[in-house]
Amino acid sequence: MIKHVLLSGGVGSRLWPLSRQSSPKQYLEVFGGQSLFELAVSRNAPFTDNLIVVGNTDNQQLSLSILEKLEVKAFTNIVEATPRNTAPAIAFAAFAADPDDILLVTPADHIIREGAAYEAAIKRAIELAAEGAIVTFGIKPTRPETGYGYIQHEAEKVIAFREKPDLKTAKQFLLSEGFLWNSGMFCFQAKVFLEELQKFEPKVYLAASHAWERAIDGNLALDLSMEIPSISVDFAVMERSDKIKVVGAEFDWSDMGSFEAVYDYLKASGYPVDENGNMQIGSTKHISFVGVKDCILVTTDDAFLVVSKSASQKVKGLYESLQKNN
Ligand code: GDD
Ligand code: MG
Repeated sequence: MIKHVLLSGGVGSRLWPLSRQSSPKQYLEVFGGQSLFELAVSRNAPFTDNLIVVGNTDNQQLSLSILEKLEVKAFTNIVEATPRNTAPAIAFAAFAADPDDILLVTPADHIIREGAAYEAAIKRAIELAAEGAIVTFGIKPTRPETGYGYIQHEAEKVIAFREKPDLKTAKQFLLSEGFLWNSGMFCFQAKVFLEELQKFEPKVYLAASHAWERAIDGNLALDLSMEIPSISVDFAVMERSDKIKVVGAEFDWSDMGSFEAVYDYLKASGYPVDENGNMQIGSTKHISFVGVKDCILVTTDDAFLVVSKSASQKVKGLYESLQKNN
């Protein structure tokens, strides 16, 4: 069987104050009245037989009500007691699946234009996964983004995977031929992923399998979850495995991961930007920018954020320090 694993456990802290723990960005109905979560479910349903949602106690009601609205009846709901990042989250889905199942893992918070190019990429990925590969989807880079993984490749062969390089390295990658961005979507057999996780991160594998054995109806216990090292799938497996393949993703893709990505997406969709590249999001008031360039003003009911577009990645640190001080 082919199963869609929808990762929906992140807070989206780089989009504070739009995105909150109580209402993470994937549930905001900002894109034509539909949430990114809803769009992700609908986009992948035609290619998969079943759905596994990996979310957490804070957001599971939001997920369940969307699935009800979409009339999705058969799905597996995995509820994390605390986020341990994507390697454990994917491991739980792989434990829940049959070993031979092919898992199409996608984030819940991307904008993708589906169509023939999307279908072709997914179909090719499923073929490669059936042969035992761990498939990534490569996007042509357009800026030296430090929030993404980079895939050095020759056709479908992956030479190296580098997660979140520093700015200098990202600039080199952008200038060299043969690097793609990792889209954050993956396709592999459940057993292949678990074998690689066990090989490279035995502690994560062991602690995750231990927690999974004690989970009740997909609900993980907090104490056993706290024992699992928090690590992303990119650092745990993608940077180290020699089973990685890449499928070129010719479809329109945008990770709504930072205000810079949101800015680029909105600007390309015709959203207003002033003559100095400044943009405001969320206010109906008149706003003027004087003497500043490439800034984004974000307004919500209870917070303002002014961020220079190029410093968008730093909002995560700001969010974390606000959490600590509250
Ligand atoms: N269930 C669960 N539990 N989901 C999680 C957790 C967790 O602990 N942490 C993150 N997620 C979900 C997020 O909600 C998101 O949908 C997805 O997993 C990816 O996590 P991010 O935190 O958004 O990752 P990233 O954006 O920093 O990096 C990844 O995506 C980039 C492209 O968007 C990497 O795969 C990069 O290599 C990639 O370029
Ligand atoms: Mg992301």
